[in-house]
Amino acid sequence: MNKFFIQTWGCQMNEYDSSRLIDLMINTGYEQTEDITEADVVILVTCAIREKAQDKVFNQLFSWQHKKQYKEGAVICVGGCVASQEGEAVLKRAPMVSVVFGPQTIHRVPNMVEKVVSTGERLVDVSFPEVEKFDFLPSPKSRGHATAFVTIMEGCSNFCSYCVVPYTRGAEFSRNLREILDEIRTLTAQGVKEINLIGQNVNSYNGKDEDGNTVTFAELLYHVAGIEGVERIRFTTSNPHDFTDEIIQAFADLPQIANAIHLPVQNGSDRILKAMNRKYDRNRYIDVVTRLRQVRPDIYISTDFIVGFPGETDEDFEQTMDLIETVKFDQSFSFIYSPRPNTPAAKMEDKTPLMTKKERLYRLQAAINNQAQQYSREMLGSVQKVLVDGLSVRDAEELSGRTDNNRTVNFKGSPELIGSFVYVKITDVLTHTLRGELIEEQQ
Ligand code: 5AD
Ligand code: SF4
Repeated sequence: MNKFFIQTWGCQMNEYDSSRLIDLMINTGYEQTEDITEADVVILVTCAIREKAQDKVFNQLFSWQHKKQYKEGAVICVGGCVASQEGEAVLKRAPMVSVVFGPQTIHRVPNMVEKVVSTGERLVDVSFPEVEKFDFLPSPKSRGHATAFVTIMEGCSNFCSYCVVPYTRGAEFSRNLREILDEIRTLTAQGVKEINLIGQNVNSYNGKDEDGNTVTFAELLYHVAGIEGVERIRFTTSNPHDFTDEIIQAFADLPQIANAIHLPVQNGSDRILKAMNRKYDRNRYIDVVTRLRQVRPDIYISTDFIVGFPGETDEDFEQTMDLIETVKFDQSFSFIYSPRPNTPAAKMEDKTPLMTKKERLYRLQAAINNQAQQYSREMLGSVQKVLVDGLSVRDAEELSGRTDNNRTVNFKGSPELIGSFVYVKITDVLTHTLRGELIEEQQ
């Protein structure tokens, strides 16, 4: 049987796409291998969100070639956002590649590979045939995991001035309600208990129900919570500008929604938010957080920051630091701004020295880490509902799971518990993980 090897970088959307592509390859008759040297098909799913992510793609391809890591005659396929953005150029820059596919054409990969093998042609298909993708994918497989991603919408039409996603993943479109609910039922029937609804901007979900009526994101949350077996719901990514009162009400009504939310703010300065075309200001962000905390006083809020956006002054940056203090974020992903081809921000004047940007990033990360550590310490002695993912990476005698606020906790317990929710008392706080003791009696 022919074997394929797949490596995925970037966001959850990519992880989801790859898991569906794996299902499709297996359905087509391929076997997945973790060993690239024995693969007949090598697939690299890429990310273009920042420059480093993009460079990494070509470095990886040439490193594989240089070290002769793949088989002679293996079909090398590149997908994801770098493929989408560069298209034909990938073939020119990386002569070992024969298939270039985009986020919306993953379902065509097996056919493209077959054609390459039979004709020797090199193929590029980075088009956006929107809805088609989901119609051609087989039912998802949980592969023993208790948590699964489900894409509810694709693409993005927000056009934040720094972001490449609207160009690489195309315009926003929502999957139908029925399709989403069926996919979730298929997963819960396989033992999945935690559903992570994903999309570039989940709040603007507006899919159709079977009568052709539009369903909002808040309505979708109630539908998902109504499915038997769904015990925990997470969703990413939310945009503060369309975080409605109805979504906040869903947090009040639905205990299945995890007590943690990722709500990217990007910057604390109104001037910079405007230049970023984020369509909300600092006060609107604080207002959403305040209203969320009215219904879930102890909710954990994580975020994304971009530091050193063109024109960001020291005063702007102090506004960001002030916002960190005001909101008391839990964790954050923070990056130095990276100009992306064809985006409006790439044309903006940027006089800030890199050193200054690095200093700002360092200060910001130190403040956030401090807060995250404080939240972790406050968890000491508390009992947490933990979904057991598997054995601990460090110690195979131990189990590893995730708390509601997305922290990894390691504890002693029987492997039979993998895939179920348990209650764990937190006994120790380490830099990146927690330690705990299993509470026998479920509460
Ligand atoms: N430069 C730096 N960070 C970026 N992000 C998106 N585009 C850029 C860019 N050009 C960050 C944002 C977004 C996260 C997924 O990546 O913070 O929320
Ligand atoms: Fe990019 Fe903004 Fe869309 Fe997020 S909302 S994917 S940052 S354009």
